[in-house]
Amino acid sequence: MKLEARGLGKCINKNNWLFQHVDLTLHSGKIIGLQGPSGCGKSSLCRLIAGMEAPTQGSVLLDGRPLQKRGYQPIQFVFQHPERAVNPRWRVRSIVSEGWMPDDELLESLHIDRSWLDRWPSELSGGQLQRICIARALCPQTKFLIADEMTTMLDAITQASIWKTVLDIASERHMGLLVVSHDRHLLNRICNQVIDFHSISHTSVS
Ligand SMILES: Nc1ncnc2c1ncn2[C@@H]1O[C@H](COP(=O)(O)OP(=O)(O)OP(=O)(O)O)[C@@H](O)[C@H]1O
Ligand SMILES: [Mg+2]
Repeated sequence: MKLEARGLGKCINKNNWLFQHVDLTLHSGKIIGLQGPSGCGKSSLCRLIAGMEAPTQGSVLLDGRPLQKRGYQPIQFVFQHPERAVNPRWRVRSIVSEGWMPDDELLESLHIDRSWLDRWPSELSGGQLQRICIARALCPQTKFLIADEMTTMLDAITQASIWKTVLDIASERHMGLLVVSHDRHLLNRICNQVIDFHSISHTSVS
């Protein structure tokens, strides 16, 4: 499968373009890293590619077709800020099981304690909630994973272990990954290609 961003532009207010003319292609089984300074527009671009927001210009195509808003969601987005990605009025079990229910083995490999499932999101730490969001995103239908600073709240050892689990699953299922990170060592280690945001975008605001 192929996920394509074609000529994407995001206007944040009148005539203020955060970026324009962004082209990016992600293939199944490949891992692309995206880096760039804070505030350059990486998360905004991810939201467009994941279909969470409509671009001001351009289009996002999955195998040549526009993304479907309803039903089967092959593109999953793990947010930089997990607390913004969950409904605070849902228990963690309902949040995870919206798409599927991971088995004990996967929960364990993501360092998730089953007892967390009975809690409210506000009763978990940021790093714990981040792992819950990763578990939710790894449902079997996921073909592309957009990972925006997905493990920034975790200590180095847990971070390495979570990435091993995610990469093993991605490889098994031939998923495509777009990984946004300020950690150049991580990107160099796991990505087939690392792209600098400024090399693919044209901006008119800072
Ligand atoms: N809806 C909006 N209205 C106005 N400005 C916005 C809006 N959304 C984002 N911005 C601005 O757009 C810029 C890009 O934000 P974005 O979150 O995409 O950056 P980023 O590259 O992900 O940064 P970081 O590395 O810090 O996560 C920022 O200057 C932000 O303040
Ligand atoms: Mg960001």
